[in-house]
Amino acid sequence: MEPVARESLAERIEGLGPLDAVAEPLQQLAKAAIPEGSTLKDALSGTWLGHPLHPPLTDVVIGAWTSALLLDLLGDESSEPAADTLVAAGVAAAVPTALSGLSDWADTRGGSRRVGTVHALGNTTALVLHVLSWFARRGGDRGRGRLLSGAGFAIASFSAWLGGHLSFGKGIGVNQTAFDSAPEEWTAVLDAEQLSEGALTAATADTTPVLLLRRGDQVHALDDRCSHRGCALHEGRLENDTIVCPCHGSTFRLDGSIVRGPATAPQPRFDARIVDGKLEIRAAS
Ligand code: FES
Repeated sequence: MEPVARESLAERIEGLGPLDAVAEPLQQLAKAAIPEGSTLKDALSGTWLGHPLHPPLTDVVIGAWTSALLLDLLGDESSEPAADTLVAAGVAAAVPTALSGLSDWADTRGGSRRVGTVHALGNTTALVLHVLSWFARRGGDRGRGRLLSGAGFAIASFSAWLGGHLSFGKGIGVNQTAFDSAPEEWTAVLDAEQLSEGALTAATADTTPVLLLRRGDQVHALDDRCSHRGCALHEGRLENDTIVCPCHGSTFRLDGSIVRGPATAPQPRFDARIVDGKLEIRAAS
């Protein structure tokens, strides 16, 4: 398939408005089951890992089912028990994988949410087919078992491609500050008088959005683009010396470290000072 055709397929799914009728209520249910700010949300997001949890879990599922398929195709009678075990291992790993994906999908919207909906429906179908395959294998109907897991593998592969589109095409799960940088030299970004005590204030250094906060003589400067999905932190709120993102509630200390997810990457911190009435920042030393 030509790259252009691949993109046009993904874009077609992104534009499927009727999917919203399914996605909207499902997303509300997902948000109720995995509330923002909960330990469960942090666990499923991968905040504790410093990396999104969903992608590495998908490797376990796909790896198990791919290995089972290869044994089905190339193995002999002696490899049948191993193939069955791999089908079951993939099914077991699919449960936490689906939960982590559901948590990530709950924070999507628009075209990404639609692609995520098709991705989830495909993966659920692939899971059901592998479960049925396992029962068929246990019941002695190996031909049917192989057919079911083969069909499940094909659907899972298409879903995996959609998942790749979400990550690499739409940036879901990517650290949104990855390409931001601050000037190496002290650079004026604001008149100091524009900075009110305790107010979250936005500025720009080169092309990087900067969040400024004055506490007495001290000025804190962080990247203003939330590492989770890129929302402007200065539109959030200050809460007990932490900054809460307005979009999904990620909470950061004033040094940029994470208190609460779903963010998995800390906010870049910059040096800040006031000289001759100007607020200056530079890359953290
Ligand atoms: S954009 Fe999601 S928590 Fe900030």
